[in-house]
Amino acid sequence: MERITISGPWITEKEIGYVTDAVATAWYGNANVYHARFQRAFGEYLGVKHAVPLPSGTSAIHLSLLALGVGPGDEVVVPDMTWIGSSAPITYVGARPVFADVDPRTWCLSVESFEKCITARTRAVIPVDLYGGLPDVDAIWAIAARRGIAVIEDAAEAIGSESRGRKAGTFGDTGVFSFHGSKTMTTGEGGMLVTDRTDLYERVLTLGDHGRRPSERGMFWNYEVAWKYKMSSMQAALGLAQLERIEELVNRKRQIFDWYQNELAGLDGLTLNWEPPGTKNSYWMVTAILEPMLGMTKGRLIKLMAERNIDVRPVFHPLSSLPAYEGWPEALQARRRNTVSYGISPYGVNLPSGMSMTAEKVHYVCDALRKALELTSQEETP
Ligand SMILES: Cc1ncc(COP(=O)(O)O)c(C=O)c1O
Repeated sequence: MERITISGPWITEKEIGYVTDAVATAWYGNANVYHARFQRAFGEYLGVKHAVPLPSGTSAIHLSLLALGVGPGDEVVVPDMTWIGSSAPITYVGARPVFADVDPRTWCLSVESFEKCITARTRAVIPVDLYGGLPDVDAIWAIAARRGIAVIEDAAEAIGSESRGRKAGTFGDTGVFSFHGSKTMTTGEGGMLVTDRTDLYERVLTLGDHGRRPSERGMFWNYEVAWKYKMSSMQAALGLAQLERIEELVNRKRQIFDWYQNELAGLDGLTLNWEPPGTKNSYWMVTAILEPMLGMTKGRLIKLMAERNIDVRPVFHPLSSLPAYEGWPEALQARRRNTVSYGISPYGVNLPSGMSMTAEKVHYVCDALRKALELTSQEETP
């Protein structure tokens, strides 16, 4: 069996055609044609007023914080169990991250923990739609609204997910997507910021273009020292083609999850991603959390699966456990407080979930997983 990698995109002739056209024609007066088509189609897909294509999901969170005016002295609540791309921009703007715990079933921001983390300095919260799953959006949004806290929804991993028919990424003041090569839809590298708030949209355009106002772009007149965050035409063309196939891409992710669910149905001590009633999970990653009593940590399982040529990745380590936040008082508090994140993360893995997965490959992965777990139980028997 060839190496089974963790994730990757599904590229067809359509994508190749659009990118080829962009590289040949999207210059001179046509330089922004693909950006315009991509952002319009993306906004329509989500049902939001404004969409801004950007070089990455990280830059979309950075611009969201800047546009909301978050800065030194402010605190921003972020779940402990996520990719550092969710939290690093908080430091870029001089604010402090406060690491809240996650919910044991959704693995996303816990409502109770969020509420406990709020102080007089809390300016924003960044709920993360982890691996395509959604937090309890209604409860989190209600608390944020009541306490005057801005919401940046990190939907980097959740294009196509929904709660009661409303798309992930549309719940906050801004929503953020990543189109990294591992994601459900890709532009190679890239991201999108969406918002219904025209004030934030205009601010984002200026902050992401060296402080120029959109209406005066050709005049080289900079009102402030800002940032340069723009996607290329070739990336926008790739994104447009992928977006035109989004139902097919999300359906494929759901199909892959179904294959895993069926294969692993009889295996005790293992929990896969949850899809609460009324929601749709786009399952960016198929994730398995093992019961500690199985005696298998994520590190050991990753090694055993690698011996079978299978690329398995760890569930995100709590941010507060990482060297990047060593010595931060917020991290020390989180280590004591966040028992769910610290309980789940050591026993969680992402299984290969790329678009090239087939039922046969899923069968091979599940067979290897079952054998790895049997091996451990035999070792445990005296
Ligand atoms: C939850 C989460 N937030 C933010 C990001 C940042 O996105 P990007 O890698 O495009 O900067 C990612 C992507 O890797 C992510 O998974």
